[in-house]
Amino acid sequence: MTLIQLGSRGPFAMTYVVTEACIKCKFMDCVEVCPVDCFYEGENMLVIHPDECIDCGVCEPECPPEAIKADTESGLEKWLTLNADYAKKWPNITQHGTAPADAKEWEGVSDKFDKYFSDKPGDGV
Ligand code: SF4
Ligand code: F3S
Repeated sequence: MTLIQLGSRGPFAMTYVVTEACIKCKFMDCVEVCPVDCFYEGENMLVIHPDECIDCGVCEPECPPEAIKADTESGLEKWLTLNADYAKKWPNITQHGTAPADAKEWEGVSDKFDKYFSDKPGDGV
């Protein structure tokens, strides 16, 4: 039997979430594959709208720094809240944009949230 974590959206509601590894990497390969266009764009990371994500999982292996996780993994509460909050504030993004020129250099860097998270919106496309 699989136990599903109970979130604020009630039993069996699941989603995928974008986590710290996306910050300043923002490769956007995830956007291309999402069948329901539920990514939202901040200045230096994306988030997933938890109420729109259909939990298909196809975006997870597309992210080079492995920033996308299923919220059934433990310890992701902070990221689920951040995704839910900023998906309401940032513009929808449905097309692959240009990743930052130095994106590769930010893969694997620690403490990116504390040092570099920006609450500013991206352009959205
Ligand atoms: Fe989109 Fe599927 Fe990823 Fe959810 S799990 S964000 S629906 S690609
Ligand atoms: Fe971020 Fe990975 Fe998408 S780095 S923009 S979650 S492909």
